Amino acid sequence: MGTLAGKRIVIGVTGGIAAYKAVEVCRRLVDAGAHVSPIMTKGAEHFIGRSTLSALASEPVQSSLWDEESPIPHTRLGQGADLVLVAPATARLIGAYAAGISSDLLTATLLATRAPVLVCPAMHTEMWEHPAVHDNLATLRRRGVHVLEPEAGRLAGGDVGRGRLASPEAIVAAVERLLTPADLHGRTVLVTAGGTREPIDAVRVIANRSSGKQGYAVAAEAASRGAHVVLVSTVDLPVPAGDVQVVPVETAAQMQDAVDRHAASCNIVIMAAAVADFRPVTAASGKIKKDSGAPQIVLEATPDILASLGAHKPAGQVLVGFAAETSDLLANAQAKLLRKNLDLIVANDVSQPGVGFHHDTNAVTIVRRHGEPLTVSLSDKREIARAVVDAAVAILAPHSEP
Ligand code: CTP
Repeated sequence: MGTLAGKRIVIGVTGGIAAYKAVEVCRRLVDAGAHVSPIMTKGAEHFIGRSTLSALASEPVQSSLWDEESPIPHTRLGQGADLVLVAPATARLIGAYAAGISSDLLTATLLATRAPVLVCPAMHTEMWEHPAVHDNLATLRRRGVHVLEPEAGRLAGGDVGRGRLASPEAIVAAVERLLTPADLHGRTVLVTAGGTREPIDAVRVIANRSSGKQGYAVAAEAASRGAHVVLVSTVDLPVPAGDVQVVPVETAAQMQDAVDRHAASCNIVIMAAAVADFRPVTAASGKIKKDSGAPQIVLEATPDILASLGAHKPAGQVLVGFAAETSDLLANAQAKLLRKNLDLIVANDVSQPGVGFHHDTNAVTIVRRHGEPLTVSLSDKREIARAVVDAAVAILAPHSEP
């Protein structure tokens, strides 16, 4: 299940042209499993219909302090929320909230909640740049309110400038970030990703089918939970958001070097990379020409990075391996876990459809040194990453130092 599943989110919509985007935000939050309670101000009703938002949210729109069965809807909504989101937030709403004025259901809810609040301003550039708005937002930030700044772009009436509401994707991502537990704050996590490439000559390599997507998803998940992530990678995918340091490598030897440099100070090490087991004994410095006939390539074993991490594992460090198998999944994974002295091994049967290399989805069994295996059925790689990081965090001793 995702971060938003079962979360109670109040979405406050105020009167700006960007109110139509709140409809999309609401739909995305509901799709992600959140329970969304919408509040509209009177101004918002000039821009979108109540029935649109009511139809897409988890309950009907409310807008008044007085017309509900419950005489105190603002405290009910505010107290029950895991997060209150205001999108779009007008200058008027920001001013009233900063001044502590409760004049309608939304401002009353904002004053009554102790949940995190995310305000997404949208207004004309001149208003956005006005010192009053600036000061009010500074006041809100000082009180711990989160602000997702507007973007530059086309505004109402054909104007162009800063003040356009952040995109629905960015708003939902910010909500996810705020609702993700920061259980890796202050921890360092090393993740390896991608397949190594072992040179045969100046242009040819022995490679494998790993795309690096699962490793990047693990890195993104750990970073979103507050970790400092060292991502040792053979691929060039977008760097995940957060405190992520990418260490580019190509061969198994380079990966081992990078891992050796960082592993000792890491609380969790997750070897998601597909490391070549064999490499050519020598790589020709130039290109091997075809006139000389098919070359005899002599292979030698590469170092087993994970096994050597297991052999020198500092006390308190959680060591996680991956196992790509095509048969006897559990037995092979269990044997690898013991042989390499791991705490967890994430086994996937790469012969199944939608599983493993290049797919955006995966299905795994997380084998634990202590406890029953955990099965995660076919899901997005980020969902798999969440389950892997959950399992690692469950083993991590509080404040353990590697
Ligand atoms: N691994 C490693 N160094 C190697 C080979 C593998 O660190 N030279 C790590 C991988 O990153 C992965 C785990 O070991 O986390 C298991 O990899 P896998 O290829 O499934 O297992 P092998 O040890 O190579 O065993 P086998 O070839 O028998 O499947």
